[in-house]
Amino acid sequence: VSARPEVRVALFGAGRVGRAFLELLVRNQHRIRLTGVSDSHGGMAGELDPEVVLEIKLRRGELPSEVARTDLLTVAEPHVVVDATSCAFDSGEPSLSVIVDSFQAGAHVVTANKIPLARFWTQITNSATVSGRRLGYAAAAGAALPAIAVARWLGGADRVRSFEAVLTGVTTFTLELMAKGLSLENAIVRAQERGIAEPNPSMDIDGWDTAAKIVILANTLWETSSTLYDVRVTGLKTDTAPARGEFRTQLVGSGRRDAGSVNLEVAPTPLPRDHPLSHLEGGDKGVVFSGPMIGTVAVLGGRSHPSVTAAAMLADVLEMSTGADVEARP
Ligand SMILES: NC(=O)c1ccc[n+]([C@@H]2O[C@H](COP(=O)([O-])OP(=O)(O)OC[C@H]3O[C@@H](n4cnc5c(N)ncnc54)[C@H](OP(=O)(O)O)[C@@H]3O)[C@@H](O)[C@H]2O)c1
Repeated sequence: VSARPEVRVALFGAGRVGRAFLELLVRNQHRIRLTGVSDSHGGMAGELDPEVVLEIKLRRGELPSEVARTDLLTVAEPHVVVDATSCAFDSGEPSLSVIVDSFQAGAHVVTANKIPLARFWTQITNSATVSGRRLGYAAAAGAALPAIAVARWLGGADRVRSFEAVLTGVTTFTLELMAKGLSLENAIVRAQERGIAEPNPSMDIDGWDTAAKIVILANTLWETSSTLYDVRVTGLKTDTAPARGEFRTQLVGSGRRDAGSVNLEVAPTPLPRDHPLSHLEGGDKGVVFSGPMIGTVAVLGGRSHPSVTAAAMLADVLEMSTGADVEARP
């Protein structure tokens, strides 16, 4: 018998990640009650069966408009909002509003979205602080790779001086093919055919996906408020050399803290063969943390898949569900 209190969850977004989250709830052993769900078309609230919601979404392509999306937070009264919406690069919407509105409604938030965090870190964390609620974002920077959990753990006591990270499998795969003689364009097409690269691969190839993730990592490590504007970003180019002698190139996001200032950069970087990030294959990711007290700590692996992202979000939900504030809220 679990001592865990029942947790009411409202899910925003029923795309690949949102549906994978619903599938996890179908196998629910976690005392989670789904009390609200919405997509870009509609919303449902009440005592929802995740299997039925999935079936409706897959059959009709959209959720019925039983509850206006703007009323969902009031009607569903969630302890935790799970944000699996898509979001625009410039505005962070609709995710930004989902996050901030949820805090104002008294819910904790678990998000898969890196852009609102990398652009509006201060606004979001202030909103969490004012409402006394917590933010889970393991899925936004690494998902299956426990990069955020390790960063939180290492971040205290000023133990990390710098980090290097490969946080998208797309560039590793693309560079592997370029090393076999393919042009950048042909390597991207191959990555798209394999379902590794998105139809629009520019976020990954131009380095902005990595930039957003290292902003989140750095802010977690060093309790700073950096944004995407603070990152020097160079993506893969047609003339990027994938390997040179004993060195293998990776698109590396790096952070360094010196005398109170933080320097963040994304660039194709030649790595020696004995560097932990030079051995990544396919969709693997990795972060190497360094500092005088810790030496080197490497976290490697964690392939991308919506179900893995959903599992990282569920882990964040479960962590929040043990809090006294969930127990206290009727
Ligand atoms: N795919 C992954 O493995 C992965 C990994 C890490 C992070 N992420 C991030 O997670 C987010 C979701 O990814 P995904 O692959 O599930 O994307 P997706 O398949 O495009 O799904 C996005 C969902 O958001 C819904 N939506 C859009 N506007 C909304 C609004 N105003 N209110 C409520 N719902 C709204 C969409 O509704 P409709 O269904 O009606 O279109 C759709 O259900 C993305 O931003 C992505 O960057 C994804």
